[in-house]
Amino acid sequence: MTENATIKIGDKTYKYPILEGTRGPKVLDIRTFYKDTGMFTYDPGFTSTASCSSAITFINGEKGELRYRGYPIEELATKYKYLEVCYLLINDNLPSKEEFLEFDNELRHRAFVDEGLRKLFDSFPRNAHPMAMLSSAVSALSTFYFDHLNTTNEKSLREMAARIIAKIPTLSSFAYRRGLGIPIIYPDIDRYFTENFLYMMRAYPGGKMHKQPGIRASKDISDIEIKALDTIFTLHADHEQNASTTTVRTVASTGAHPYAAISAGIDALWGRAHGGANESVVAQLELINDIKNVDKYIKKAKDPDDPFRLMGFGHRVYKNFDPRARILKNLQDQLKNELGLDSKLLEIAHKIEEIALNDEYFKKRKLYPNIDFYSGVILTALGIPKNMFTAIFVIGRTVGWISQWMEFKKDKKAKIARPRQLYIGP
Ligand code: CMC
Repeated sequence: MTENATIKIGDKTYKYPILEGTRGPKVLDIRTFYKDTGMFTYDPGFTSTASCSSAITFINGEKGELRYRGYPIEELATKYKYLEVCYLLINDNLPSKEEFLEFDNELRHRAFVDEGLRKLFDSFPRNAHPMAMLSSAVSALSTFYFDHLNTTNEKSLREMAARIIAKIPTLSSFAYRRGLGIPIIYPDIDRYFTENFLYMMRAYPGGKMHKQPGIRASKDISDIEIKALDTIFTLHADHEQNASTTTVRTVASTGAHPYAAISAGIDALWGRAHGGANESVVAQLELINDIKNVDKYIKKAKDPDDPFRLMGFGHRVYKNFDPRARILKNLQDQLKNELGLDSKLLEIAHKIEEIALNDEYFKKRKLYPNIDFYSGVILTALGIPKNMFTAIFVIGRTVGWISQWMEFKKDKKAKIARPRQLYIGP
């Protein structure tokens, strides 16, 4: 039997059904609230609003729990490759060996982009931010594919998904190399997704790699590096209805092209409060520069009159710990020597963590290190520059965005996103 909630306004009483999902808090169904009462609900930042129903990702912020399609993130990050996780997010089941080989092979072949798109990168100024180039390139990708309106065709939806997942690392490496003013490297179909991305970042023109130590840009790719980056991609793969995913769904709701929606998602991710935090974390560690300065910056972060925030701390949903951060911290500890993590950055990060976790200000507000606090130091050791960190987030998250887009397209209850307002003007 459906449980109901009663809302009394003046002398009138209204009844609303309480919906129950498979996990997580119950949800009050207020879809007819305005029609019934003539009132809107007010919830800036959607702190109490479920904008859709979804079967992809589940988060319990109090328990620090994250699951993709029911699987705990700890299991996915340690036992599966990123592409297996992609398959899971898109298809709702982990691939068999044959399915994996077919999917992996498809993505290798779809990693190439039209030469026209490659030339687009020549028109960007060299100091353009990679996120701006990436968003523009993904938007431009929509000029090449026209089957996006065929949303009742499962094959067409899957092709849309496979193409964008496969091409994002290629476009990201183009953005990186444009910034350096060096020729792009085409994908190598003999390499696995994550290795291929590192290859396109590092190789010399013509695809040559060198083992010569000290030459970072041409450094050969080790299995440990592939594993570390693969794990980072998995940890970023989806995160329920966060700001960029909500943006993707909003654009999807208007019927626009899926790559236009992903392009908008990239823009939303760019900001420092969201995916851009990973770039800011390392910039902040460099600014702090020495453990003796940590106290000063903690003080600034606590000062309500100072806009300074400790980057990589706090989360809208996680109020105990961020499970992604815990996995990355373990990875940092494991790979400290093998990857040659920057000991000075680590020392400052550990000091911040130690002070903040014992400080009343952070404890009271339940501010814990999030995923971005730990990813930057590992990415630095992989030779990835700061301004590419958020692009790494994009590579991991694209599968989440496109899975959410597919789910939206199949949702019979989906409507154009069109919130209302509390008008306070003249
Ligand atoms: N440093 C100092 N104080 C903070 C911080 C921080 N990083 N984060 C939140 N606070 C304080 C904030 O000032 C407020 O204090 P008061 O109650 O006295 O006004 C209180 O904590 C609640 O903050 P809020 O801004 O209302 O919380 P929110 O849920 O709207 O914002 C957040 C969440 C992640 C945007 C915020 O914690 C933040 O700006 N963190 C730093 C940026 C960051 O690391 N972002 C990455 C998030 S994880 C990756 C992702 O999924 O995108």
